[in-house]
Amino acid sequence: MTDVGIDGIEVRTGKLKLDLAETFAPEKGEEPGKYTKGLGLFASSLPDVYEDIVTMAANASHRLMERKGLEPEDIGRIDVATESAFDNSKPVSTYVAGCLEQVYDGDFHHANKGERKFACISGTQALDDAYNWIRAGRNRGRKALVIATDTALYARDDPGEATQGAGAVAMLIDEDPDVVAFSTEQGYGSADETDFLKPNQQFPSVDGKRSVQVYLARMREALEDFEAAGGDTHPDNFAFIPFHTPFPGMVRKAAGLGYRHCIRGTDVEEELAGEIGRQPRREAFDSEEEYFEAVKEYTDALTETDTYTEWYEQTIDPTLDISREVGNWYTGSVHIARASGLKRALEEGRAVTGKKLLVGSYGSGAQAEIHAETIVEGWESEIEALNIDEQIEARYDLSFEEYEEIHDVHNHEAETDIEPRTTPEGEFAFDGWGRMGERKYTYVE
Ligand code: CAA
Repeated sequence: MTDVGIDGIEVRTGKLKLDLAETFAPEKGEEPGKYTKGLGLFASSLPDVYEDIVTMAANASHRLMERKGLEPEDIGRIDVATESAFDNSKPVSTYVAGCLEQVYDGDFHHANKGERKFACISGTQALDDAYNWIRAGRNRGRKALVIATDTALYARDDPGEATQGAGAVAMLIDEDPDVVAFSTEQGYGSADETDFLKPNQQFPSVDGKRSVQVYLARMREALEDFEAAGGDTHPDNFAFIPFHTPFPGMVRKAAGLGYRHCIRGTDVEEELAGEIGRQPRREAFDSEEEYFEAVKEYTDALTETDTYTEWYEQTIDPTLDISREVGNWYTGSVHIARASGLKRALEEGRAVTGKKLLVGSYGSGAQAEIHAETIVEGWESEIEALNIDEQIEARYDLSFEEYEEIHDVHNHEAETDIEPRTTPEGEFAFDGWGRMGERKYTYVE
């Protein structure tokens, strides 16, 4: 059976930067370490006045199409995953296609377009849709464009404000891919939860502490379901494990718990037994409470071992490089984690072709999904083509007053008209409103 997977990736960040340690922490009266060490974040990417989910998505897609030498007729499907949509009827993918049609001779009239919603997991679900469309033989030789795009802004003074971000990830899904091939096994953990939601409001209502617990609970269920589907979860069998990354500290928690779960009954547990003992087994305890306390103690000891630290440095830490600098991109976050891991592999010259990724996606509300991918030949040149480091470096560094204004510009309730901090060049830009309240875009040479 021919492989189907990701053939190319492009990453586009918002062009403004809010430095959390230098600019945000002093205004909040917090230690910089709360952000840089606790949450694991250095900065947030924010959109300039002329940027939004459409411009970032279109700019990422344009660069991807140019790089892969594609014309509109080569794309049979455009799906956008977002939690930041501004229209309950017209999908963002139509706006993105409209933008791209400004710079190509052909059009996307033949392409099936849609929008996927399930909080941050919808990007992964859109990849699934594309995979199934190709596997079902309905693509007529065409490729799918899947774009995860969000302006992940929180209300001012919400605890989530420190984890904001804005960016898009465009992914080309095709047969014989050049980055990763998808596997068929999947695991799900899905439940009706009220942890993070946007009931027809722009900024989310969040129960932050609870959202962390729900993330961990659903991820655990997904892992067990993945194992039940025959999926291999031995932690040493993966080059990287990219997780949904609302902030790196969340992944640090998930990785420790996941590692403990996955080494149970394996050679790793055996080798560590002399140092920290074996994992507690439920049957050895009189109550759940005692058992959980013993599990917590074991997990704390486990994450202090050299074995765990080395595994974390190799398998998890590289997936957080981009996230640390840009914050939470909601739907795009797990996909920048994958790109980030591969980017580090390239920088360190690691031979990872043929190796596996275990991808852990999560969306509030809530659902986790786990699947494996195989890194395929061609990944080096695809990842080398990314210019995310240059984009991160080129961002305009906002003062706190400028940040307050920019937040207001992107607040639908506020009336703010300020000059952009950067100048659009060779990109799509928001260009005002049409007669029916639609947003308009222009390609600026
Ligand atoms: N040095 C080092 N560490 C420090 C520190 C310092 N000076 N000060 C604080 N810390 C540590 C704290 O100990 C804490 O670490 P632990 O969790 O390991 O104990 C960490 O920094 C954060 O500190 P707080 O818990 O006090 O931070 P907070 O309560 O202000 O905010 C949050 C944390 C509730 C998660 C908040 O960021 C939030 O609401 N975020 C939005 C929701 C979110 O991202 N949830 C994640 C799961 S849901 C999801 O994944 C979907 C999604 O994308 C939104």
